[in-house]
Amino acid sequence: MARFIQIAVQDAAAIRDELTAGLSAPTAAIAPKHFYDLLGSKLFEAICELPEYYPTRTEAAIFADQQAAIGQAAGSGRVLIDLGAGNCEKAASLFPVLQPSAYVPVDISTSFLQQAVERLQAQYPAMPMLGVGIDFSTTLELPPEVPSGRRLFFYPGSSIGNFTPQEAVAFLRRVCHACGSDGSLLIGVDLVKDPATLQQAYDDALGVTACFNLNVLNNVNALLHADFRLSGWRHQALFNAVDSRIEMHLEAREDQRVGWDGGARRFERGQRIHTENSYKYSRAAFLALLQEAGFAGIEAWTDPQQWFMVCHARVG
Ligand code: AVJ
Repeated sequence: MARFIQIAVQDAAAIRDELTAGLSAPTAAIAPKHFYDLLGSKLFEAICELPEYYPTRTEAAIFADQQAAIGQAAGSGRVLIDLGAGNCEKAASLFPVLQPSAYVPVDISTSFLQQAVERLQAQYPAMPMLGVGIDFSTTLELPPEVPSGRRLFFYPGSSIGNFTPQEAVAFLRRVCHACGSDGSLLIGVDLVKDPATLQQAYDDALGVTACFNLNVLNNVNALLHADFRLSGWRHQALFNAVDSRIEMHLEAREDQRVGWDGGARRFERGQRIHTENSYKYSRAAFLALLQEAGFAGIEAWTDPQQWFMVCHARVG
């Protein structure tokens, strides 16, 4: 079988416009997708190994414990479309269970994805693989090279939590549409739990999450030719119980001016840049959200502590 990797490149101008708008807003914001430059993707891999960061290993345990049921629900021989594939490890761990006919990892972090797909292709030389480097939060239009066949979208890790619930419904509707009439979705979502556990998962003792958060400024410096000094900012993570979400911010340690291609602004000491929301759902709220997006026939699995949930959903 042919080894087939194609990486589509993103529209740089659109990225710059969106970043500039976020930085110029009264409450400055940088979208969390910008965490994942090459270093950021590696820092995220390190986060997944932290004792405090329970989502990755809890989800992996559900995949391992429920593999028979998940395999039964999802079926085999599907075109596995992995949204936010990163190092492709989660999908690869399910290959024996899902036996996909083709693997299509999608990620904004193009070079990191390319490296991962090359490694995986060497391990599975017979499996058709097509890496797609797009920002799937803005488009789910996949290139025509994607092999045809029944689709299984895979969206693990609770990345859905980066969207507001409203945005999440809109996004899942698009996934539902992209499934075609006979496709389905396998998705992981983080559940509400005690605030201390949540807080620590995003403010670990080693400071890896702080590095991950601060590194977004390195990426913005590169993308926008900005002059952020990382030493002028501090990592902050808090659980917002009203909105049921972890928020990450960068807080200015001192008054400063930051310039970038075509703009500049002042930040006062204590002023913050909002870098991420990570919504935490109850089981019922998330199942309702899937239904609202057009999915049906939903099956859900959790770990014994009910910290994380994996769902399989069909087009309704
Ligand atoms: C990749 C979005 C699922 O929200 O837990 C980890 C990103 N941010 N630590 C999450 C993240 C800080 C992660 N997601």
